[in-house]
Amino acid sequence: MRLELHGITKRFGALTANDRIDLDLRPGEIHGLLGENGAGKSTLMNILYGLYQADEGRVLLDGEEQHFTGPGDAMRAGIGMVHQHFMLVPVFTVAENLMLGHEQARLGFLDLPAARARVREISARFGFDIDPDALVEDLPVGVQQRVEIIKALSRDAQVLVFDEPTAVLTPQETDELMAIMRQLKESGTAIVFITHKLREVREVADRITVIRLGKVVGEAEPTASNSELASLMVGRSVELTVDRTPSAGGDTGLVVEGLTVLDARGHTVVDDVGFSVRRGEILAIAGVQGNGQTELTEAILGLQEHVTGRIELDGRPLTGLPTRRVLHAGVGFVPEDRQEDALVAEFSIAENLMLDRSDGAPFVKGAGLQRRALATFASEKVREFDVRAQSIETAVGRLSGGNQQKVVLARELSRDLRLFVAAQPTRGLDVGSIEFVHERVVATRDAGVPVVVISTELDEVVALADRIAVMYRGRIVGIVPGDTSRDVLGLMMAGEVPEGTRMAA
Ligand SMILES: Nc1ncnc2c1ncn2[C@@H]1O[C@H](COP(=O)(O)OP(=O)(O)O)[C@@H](O)[C@H]1O
Ligand SMILES: [Mg+2]
Repeated sequence: MRLELHGITKRFGALTANDRIDLDLRPGEIHGLLGENGAGKSTLMNILYGLYQADEGRVLLDGEEQHFTGPGDAMRAGIGMVHQHFMLVPVFTVAENLMLGHEQARLGFLDLPAARARVREISARFGFDIDPDALVEDLPVGVQQRVEIIKALSRDAQVLVFDEPTAVLTPQETDELMAIMRQLKESGTAIVFITHKLREVREVADRITVIRLGKVVGEAEPTASNSELASLMVGRSVELTVDRTPSAGGDTGLVVEGLTVLDARGHTVVDDVGFSVRRGEILAIAGVQGNGQTELTEAILGLQEHVTGRIELDGRPLTGLPTRRVLHAGVGFVPEDRQEDALVAEFSIAENLMLDRSDGAPFVKGAGLQRRALATFASEKVREFDVRAQSIETAVGRLSGGNQQKVVLARELSRDLRLFVAAQPTRGLDVGSIEFVHERVVATRDAGVPVVVISTELDEVVALADRIAVMYRGRIVGIVPGDTSRDVLGLMMAGEVPEGTRMAA
């Protein structure tokens, strides 16, 4: 089946989310749709899937114009979609979820035995190991995604749209998904693969269409370089490799020894962890999500209750101190979940910039003085950190993820720091913002601060780290130099210590 989108335009009020977009898709091809957050990718695919009506333009299947009034129409025409946020019912089984889909698509009633058989048959075809009677909520995220794929295939989808499918996956699950996409392609399915990750689209796509601010800005081959693609996406040239000299390496700043953290149920989540970080050095803590990195970070910041062991900064103990005093000791912190833990969405940029200083000078003397000092400070920081907003009075909840993170960095990096801890600092950010954040992290190191970066993104770890500690099941598997190969790091992330690995503790 050949799919063509001609001149698709979609407006939301004053905003043109899709501006005369043309796209074509051939059978058996993986077509990468690349663009930054907000570029209009999901909108375009929601039009294709019948969720939105285009204001202008045409959708053609094998040359025939289609008029989808809802997803049911799209499904019957052979279009399937694996959404960014899964549409499965968690308390239903895999087979029951399959039945639901069919009713929705009015493809005829599918009974439970038939649904089970479909799950088994499609699973066998792709080598999935999925129990039709398992509750969806009990399945890992990567497997839930496969259920979405099975659901689409059970309706004979010939065009399958994956909207940012790797955002929720581990590196291993991502590799497996790539293999599945290739298999689908071999069997003739046409795939639209939406992403903002260059590495992934280059690895799997046959063709790449780049969109920016609602417009197609170029087509590229997967052989295009990362910086060519990034520049197309962002609309200016982007330096992807962080400019980084070897660490000067000063005195030891942070020392962690024999650190163990128990969760609320008494399970060991961080297990006898030890490392040190020198001034002017970046230690990255790598690992697949959920191997104790979050708890380790929180323990350093005084956010965990059941902590034993020793944490010392410049020779002074931090262990057991409340978070407020840890921050006052000169620790800058970018938490994993910035919306939840670093910002107040309804507060203005200016207010967020002074969140944890409200108890001290220079902002709390006379009310008038305070306001002026704050406004000056905020304007300076907004300029310095390139926060794109209408004014310093804009509520941070209205900013893009990248701009929100810049506000957090601006606040944390404008204190006198003895340690900087950044957890998943670029999660969900666009390429341009990632570049900016990385530059700031390196600049902080170069100013002589010990830096700990906790990241599940191997690209980020490799780009930033002077040394890398890999965590697996609560333990540090090893600490290796920053130029260690991805293969070795990948093995360590699975808990192995490859032979000959030089430990650089
Ligand atoms: N239902 C909607 N109402 C208003 N604006 C929307 C709606 N859906 C998307 N937008 C806006 O359209 C633009 C494109 O969004 P989207 O298609 O989700 O981008 P992408 O998927 O590329 O990140 C964004 O500015 C977004 O805020
Ligand atoms: Mg999207």
